[in-house]
Amino acid sequence: MLSDVNIVKIAVLVSGNGSNLQALIDAQIGGDIPKGKIVMVLSSCSDAYALVRAQNAGIETAVVQRKNFTQGSQFDNAILTVLRQSEAEVVVLAGFMSILGSDIIDEFQNRIINVHPSLIPSFCGKGCYGIKVHRDVINSGVKVTGATVHFVNEIPDGGKIILQKAVDVAEDDTPETLQSKVMSQAEWIILPKATAQLCEKIYDDKISNSN
Ligand code: GRF
Repeated sequence: MLSDVNIVKIAVLVSGNGSNLQALIDAQIGGDIPKGKIVMVLSSCSDAYALVRAQNAGIETAVVQRKNFTQGSQFDNAILTVLRQSEAEVVVLAGFMSILGSDIIDEFQNRIINVHPSLIPSFCGKGCYGIKVHRDVINSGVKVTGATVHFVNEIPDGGKIILQKAVDVAEDDTPETLQSKVMSQAEWIILPKATAQLCEKIYDDKISNSN
């Protein structure tokens, strides 16, 4: 399989613990992303545990920190340089805490996906991320939440939805217990699945374009 030149190269962008990255790595090892290969993990934080997970899996890593640049466009350019060097064809945002600029979004149209810990269009958008999502869910009284994988465009959490999975909210859930349930019951399942689907589509397009 490694000799298959059409295998789609994946870059994963992270900022923190990297449990979603781990789900992707495990899926790859388990053969569940047959048409894709993670070639780069880029972190916006130098001490992200996600970097350790990547190194343990033998995946190349890079760190690009917003604080090292005065302008957002310089930060975007530094990310683009890493993505181009790795020849990434798909970009997976797995807990990436920075907003990508239009240069990156334009270069990777319909090839950047993100996982969000709610059922979009509920509990999403600018400023709605992390534990706040789950706090808002509990305060609202809804009985079902979940996770969404969507394409990334210029609107925060506004791109086309690819996959969603629902999770029940229990009476005694706290934001922390709910966060952990949404991850294990939804995010870690649909992110690898959506990644595999996108890689399969790009792979098939490459094959038909070469015929
Ligand atoms: C996840 O809840 C993801 O949905 C959100 O950030 C969190 C990242 O967690 N975008 P991890 O770093 O993958 O453990």
